[in-house]
Amino acid sequence: MIGRSYYIFLAVGVILVTAILATYFFHSAPVQESTSDSADISWQYISVDSPLQPIPSVQNLDPDWVNLGRALFHSPLLSKDNTISCASCHLVHFGGDDSFPVSTGIENKVGSRNSPSVLNAVFNFRQFWDGRSLDLKEQIAGPVHNPVEMGSSWQEIVAKLENSTDFVGMFASVTPDGINEETISNAIVAYETSLTTPNAPIDAYIQGDQNALNPQQKRGLQKFTDFGCVACHQGVNIGGNLFQKIGRIGEIPEVLADDLGRFTITGNEYDKYVFKVPSLRNVALTGPYFHNGAVAELSEAVKIMAKMQLGREISQRDTDDIVALLQSFTGDTSDL
Ligand code: HEC
Ligand code: HEC
Repeated sequence: MIGRSYYIFLAVGVILVTAILATYFFHSAPVQESTSDSADISWQYISVDSPLQPIPSVQNLDPDWVNLGRALFHSPLLSKDNTISCASCHLVHFGGDDSFPVSTGIENKVGSRNSPSVLNAVFNFRQFWDGRSLDLKEQIAGPVHNPVEMGSSWQEIVAKLENSTDFVGMFASVTPDGINEETISNAIVAYETSLTTPNAPIDAYIQGDQNALNPQQKRGLQKFTDFGCVACHQGVNIGGNLFQKIGRIGEIPEVLADDLGRFTITGNEYDKYVFKVPSLRNVALTGPYFHNGAVAELSEAVKIMAKMQLGREISQRDTDDIVALLQSFTGDTSDL
């Protein structure tokens, strides 16, 4: 009897000691301080009673990471032949796109899609016209490797940046982790996170400033709402938070029927002609329009949308009112 309780006592003892040690070890394990990202950013939202929402302001974005990201975004070292930077196709002071129907990369190679704006892209629920990237960080590997954009590789880029005393110094001042895919991407994401354009007239208006829109823009907002544009283009980014099929009601005009959208990623029949609903923020600056830039004029894009998405032929007056409204979506870029 005595022998058996001795063993039970011993077993319980061992379990207890193990548990105490495990707890101690767990608690005393150093908390992993991540130095390779741009700290814990958060957003301060202003919620208003409207399908459109004002741009939130970002908190705790580290300016040193943003500056490094800005330098990388503008550096041609990210491309194979040192001729193209992210900024070649995304001009942040001119709407965040490149104003061409489709973009041209290294060796004058031409892509098949229109460059979307990087301004406010941080608010998109997915990236790319077909939403194939989950977020900004994942997106970066796309252009870096794309043979018709930058045609490079992380290995080549890291080697070139390590040869630049400027970049070596900038990286060293923000992270001990050195120059690698992770730190490069984190810096670019920090910069892109800073590329928001708040205080557009529409933001002031939905927050109660009745004079922020002129009478024509107010009529435009009424129509944008009543016709149903707002069903797809809404939220903080006035778009950027849904996938939708083009030609939902009306036929797809031939100029837009070249690209099967999400179908090219998923192979699912239902995804034919499905695209991410683009943000309409700064849309007056981002022509030409649609996934392939086939439409030059904003008024033409509005008419096509009304017909193709809502089955509605709209008058010139309605079109002009909506275009006037879209102009009120242009935000403040002075801090970029
Ligand atoms: C040669 C021109 C070109 C270069 C260089 C380029 N981009 Fe783009 N970018 C595009 C095009 C075109 C698309 C849309 C492609 C698609 O949807 O399939 C795009 C899409 C994006 C998007 C998605 C935006 C959205 O609303 O979906 C982001 C973000 C972006 N690029 C950032 C970058 C960054 C960061 C770099 C540099 C590492 C870069 N781009 C380099 C042309 C370019
Ligand atoms: C059913 C959803 C839906 C509705 C309703 C809708 N849109 Fe769109 N809109 C989209 C999609 C998806 C695209 C991208 C299509 C493409 O590029 O092929 C788009 C693109 C646009 C563009 C081009 C943006 C750019 O950057 O190229 C404009 C402008 C636009 N819409 C305005 C409107 C207006 C104005 C209305 C109302 C008359 C409207 N949309 C109604 C889904 C919708």
